[in-house]
Amino acid sequence: MLVVYEKSDHVATITLNRPEAFNAISPEVYQEFSDTMIRFRDDPDVWVAIITGAGQKAFSAGADIKQMLPRLADKSFALPPGIMRGLNIWKPIIAAINGLALGGGLEIVLACDIRIAAENARFGTPEVSLGLIPGWGGTQRLPRMLPWCKAAEILLMGKPIDAQEAYRIGLINKVVAPAELMSTAQEWAARICENGPIAIRAAKEAMIRGMNMSLDDGLRLEESFFAGLTTTEDFKEGISAFAEKRKPQYKGE
Ligand code: HXC
Repeated sequence: MLVVYEKSDHVATITLNRPEAFNAISPEVYQEFSDTMIRFRDDPDVWVAIITGAGQKAFSAGADIKQMLPRLADKSFALPPGIMRGLNIWKPIIAAINGLALGGGLEIVLACDIRIAAENARFGTPEVSLGLIPGWGGTQRLPRMLPWCKAAEILLMGKPIDAQEAYRIGLINKVVAPAELMSTAQEWAARICENGPIAIRAAKEAMIRGMNMSLDDGLRLEESFFAGLTTTEDFKEGISAFAEKRKPQYKGE
């Protein structure tokens, strides 16, 4: 399998599994990744996903330069929707970056909400060195997430930055030793799962939709989501648990 899907305790771990090619994304890997993300979206038992790469070297070195990029030049070749473009998933997604995240690999990271990296991770968009630009959101998400000059540095120099620099500029949440990467990502996922799952999805959807709205429209959207949440069983459980000084048992209802 080119993409492995495992689940336990409401958390799916999704592994790009082509370590001999730095988890480069061939058309087959892309198709499996798209299918797997839809499976995660539609699985009611699973509330959070962790995306990582197989092996010690790479999260992903991006689109497969030999198998994917020549196909993209063919106008009749269309890719299915992905989390980078076309597929909205309101459940939180954590990237556990175990090595290089280049090109499309970085663009997967940018489509994740929480990003935890091993010390050996590096981040870059080498597309310009191939006479291309990023095609899975890099030119749009990086300047929205970083100060302009740091986004420009990554996009125009084509030279990767290391994990400490990525942390310093706010591209990632945390840097850990490689051996602690997955346990840290799992701890963050478990912490998110302690919260009301419908509220978590509403928070993410409000964040993403609000990014493209005026503040007034965003505040109206928040108000309507808030009103919707006050009618849920989870909300009743949340306030009862607080009053009864116990942990809430959320069901996502
Ligand atoms: C295809 C790749 C690959 C890639 C690595 N490999 N990256 N194959 N596409 N993106 C393969 C190599 O061909 C090689 O296979 C094996 O992995 C090991 O790579 P080496 O180059 O021998 O290893 P090393 O010297 O350690 O260098 C690793 C590397 C380098 C830094 C990751 O391979 C590299 O620069 N790769 C290209 C990264 C890149 O430009 N990514 C952006 C792609 S464009 P063999 O069979 O020879 O052993 C993109 C656009 C996305 O992502 C948007 C599309 C719309």
